[in-house]
Amino acid sequence: MDSPDLLKTQHVMVEALLAQCKLARSEERRRGIYRRLRAALVMHAEIEEIVFYPACQRREELATLVSGNYDEQQYMRKLLEEMGEVPATSPRFDHLFNELFMLINRHVDEEENALFPRVKRLMRSEERMRLASDMRAYQAARARQPVT
Ligand SMILES: [Fe+2]
Repeated sequence: MDSPDLLKTQHVMVEALLAQCKLARSEERRRGIYRRLRAALVMHAEIEEIVFYPACQRREELATLVSGNYDEQQYMRKLLEEMGEVPATSPRFDHLFNELFMLINRHVDEEENALFPRVKRLMRSEERMRLASDMRAYQAARARQPVT
């Protein structure tokens, strides 16, 4: 599996958690799904920012496609942080969730329809595979760190 395919599997997982969170009604269940969603999104954002985007930025044609993503992911972190501070069944949580939902949908759409096809075209297969292995190594190292 190369780097865009690996990132796509993470998108699928995040979208499944978003759908589950939307359907969940009880505070406890929503909170549980929110925690898993937050962990998955934070890991995905880190992998992209630390491994994938820097490799994209070395190519002019890809650099413009990822330049706005750092700010977007900072905004995503802010939304997640505030979602952690309000009851999961409150109208405020719903509002933040909807913002997050739209942000993630746009992120997935832009990456899967614009960025990833170009990465596949412009990066050699060996490089895409090496990036995927760097991502897995990062994820494994990060999983061993204590949660802060
Ligand atoms: Fe992504």
